[in-house]
Amino acid sequence: MPRFDRSHTDDLAAFIQASPTPYHACAEAGRRLEAAGFARLAETDPWPVEPGGYYAVRDGSIIAWRINGAEYDSFRIFGAHTDTPTFKVKPNPDTGAYGWKQVAVEVYGGVPHQTWLDRDLSVAGRLVMRDGTEVLVDVDRPLLRVPRLAIHLDRGVNEGQKLHPQAQLTPIWGLGEPRAGEFLEFIAAEAGVNAEDVYGHDLFAAALDAPSYLGKDQELFAAWRLDNLTSVHAGVAALIAAEDTGTRVPVLAAFNYEEIGSMTYSAAQGPFLESVLHRLIGDDFEVYARAIAASAMMSSDTGNAIHPNYPEKHEPGHRPIPGEGPMIKVSANQRYASGAEEQALFRRSAEAAGIPWQTYVNRNDIPGGTTIGPISGTQLGILTVDVGLPILSMHSARELCGAEDPGHLAALALGLFTH
Ligand code: CO
Repeated sequence: MPRFDRSHTDDLAAFIQASPTPYHACAEAGRRLEAAGFARLAETDPWPVEPGGYYAVRDGSIIAWRINGAEYDSFRIFGAHTDTPTFKVKPNPDTGAYGWKQVAVEVYGGVPHQTWLDRDLSVAGRLVMRDGTEVLVDVDRPLLRVPRLAIHLDRGVNEGQKLHPQAQLTPIWGLGEPRAGEFLEFIAAEAGVNAEDVYGHDLFAAALDAPSYLGKDQELFAAWRLDNLTSVHAGVAALIAAEDTGTRVPVLAAFNYEEIGSMTYSAAQGPFLESVLHRLIGDDFEVYARAIAASAMMSSDTGNAIHPNYPEKHEPGHRPIPGEGPMIKVSANQRYASGAEEQALFRRSAEAAGIPWQTYVNRNDIPGGTTIGPISGTQLGILTVDVGLPILSMHSARELCGAEDPGHLAALALGLFTH
């Protein structure tokens, strides 16, 4: 039997299943925000100044905020990312040989190839039509498979196997002669549109296995896209709950393209967040500069829990474990934004939330990853702290975290917004 209230993590599971791509994550976040009274704004329109909840979407990124009173003077920003390493369908996808139909794909981000083999995969993404409108599509049933070579044909497989990303990761999707246009005709039919009106597409392979709880006491939670929908979902839940924030404006900023370096017009290196914050303040630069100086950001992304089979990969004095709460991620070289002021901000938020917390540091000989924290902090000039949940199997098609930790992360975000 579960030993804690599962409602938050059950809700995360629903969020993950509704969000196979960044575009779906923005749509699902928007749906939840609108159910709580938020209004979607177009960046091309003038924006209202009245108190209320609002959000804007740009190319798989979403920024949402709520103005709780007539007067405000600063921001509390919870940052996350909406994308995940996977395979992206190429512009001319129809390929194949020897009686197999295949779909040509590119590798998007840091994909551990083995984890995608021999899985039922679906396809989801967006179509942009001749008239510029965007249509989401989610096939949501088994469609693709990247088949493993039989062990009899590859006796060295357990001595380590390298897969060639161009030749050996191409999924199959059926039998017969490949025909140019067939795959996109199928996708257009799934989306209920005419294939000849589809003028652009961003389509990705999607892992289909439903999220599940593991363990005798169900204290573990497995799903695809824990990195980083745990953070997007926590931010949405906290923003909906952040009714009392004094003169601070709570903001959720969830960016696309983190996994490939954040360099697009909609990503953390672009001007989207700065543009929103500037519009909320108006054109008096001194007022804006004072607001930024009084603001703080918490950038949330998953990090590595101590792995029992590979302890030598981890810093011996810092061993985060699932179930013990979110981590602050510390790096002397600022791969994570987390100096002394940032550590204090994190501790105050965690204490306000009444949650357990941990500290993550890389080994000196394993530099690890990075995230949007240093990028957004540098872009905006806002004090920024990097946090996130400890997970195993990061970037796998099925990651693992503590089942209670997503609720702790949402409480931490609310602590940031309200204290
Ligand atoms: Co991430």
